[in-house]
Amino acid sequence: MLTTCPIIILFVSVSCQYGTYPQDHEQLSADERIVIRFSHVVGEDTPKGQASRKFAELVESRTDGYVEVQVFPNSFLYRDGEEFDALLKGDVQMIAPSTSKVTKLVPEWQVIDLPFAFNSDQEVNEYLESPAGQVLWDKLKREGLYPLAFWNNGFKQMTNNRNPLIDLADFKNLRFRVMSSEVLEEQFSLLGAQAHVDAFDQVYPLLEKGEIDAQENTFSNIVNKNIHTQQEYMTISNHGYLGYLVLMNEKFWQNLSDEIQIVLLESMQEVTEWERGIAEEINRENRQTLEQCDCVNLHELTHEERVVWERALEPLYDSFTEQFGDKYIHYIPKFKKERSYN
Ligand code: LMR
Repeated sequence: MLTTCPIIILFVSVSCQYGTYPQDHEQLSADERIVIRFSHVVGEDTPKGQASRKFAELVESRTDGYVEVQVFPNSFLYRDGEEFDALLKGDVQMIAPSTSKVTKLVPEWQVIDLPFAFNSDQEVNEYLESPAGQVLWDKLKREGLYPLAFWNNGFKQMTNNRNPLIDLADFKNLRFRVMSSEVLEEQFSLLGAQAHVDAFDQVYPLLEKGEIDAQENTFSNIVNKNIHTQQEYMTISNHGYLGYLVLMNEKFWQNLSDEIQIVLLESMQEVTEWERGIAEEINRENRQTLEQCDCVNLHELTHEERVVWERALEPLYDSFTEQFGDKYIHYIPKFKKERSYN
């Protein structure tokens, strides 16, 4: 039975306790339901695209349609650079940006962008459960962002249309699209390239128009947006990690009843475990697509080549430490062991 209490409508939330959900959501008008607008920038067949849809389905079925999660993929509502504002103003209630994109608000999250910091999804996930990760999560809350989960995508690879990227000299003057993170900008400066910060939905058109030459992204994002069709060379470098913060507007979250919060958290936990499996699978399949398409020249970085890149990029660790101290770096797995090239 629906009890009498303040109604939650789009953009306006008022908390109230419901003993049970209404049996037939078809009978409810839009302004009697809780509507969560969830905006993201990638395609529906990517790990994030599939996970957000699954989250919407689970929540809808577990609340008999009382909570409706409306998913807007492909920058349909908001692009990079607009998403955070939209969330903080309450124009949408959920977003799932990459960790790199939160660094304008919480620069310490750049630790995830440090090149060659992690060797597997699991290492990233464990880092985020460490004391350093805990501090990073807490900083989001101070910005009005309620973190619900971390979703994996995978490791970034580099593509360009000029030459294979193997030696450091190969980067000279290449115009590389990057996400908005200073570590990423500096990464390409150190390699002798030029970094361009652009929204994700601009990568394909900018490559097509020849306004940029190169970009870094996961197999899933490259294949899903046909980026490889505009690029001749790919280096499988696994140099940087791409994962997502699944965020809700903090005030919206606090205004939900305990009962609804529990359903959302349970559903999110289930989806997050599932997402970790499909992220790996989708990236593996998309890598195979590129290996078999005969459409892009692939080079996998050898151990020796990787060591040269790692050394060239070491100053990023120094500047990160200068800015934020060594507490975040300390929990990166490779600093717990000896570096491979020492
Ligand atoms: C990018 O901008 O390259 C990625 O963050 C897109 C995404 O959300 O995976």
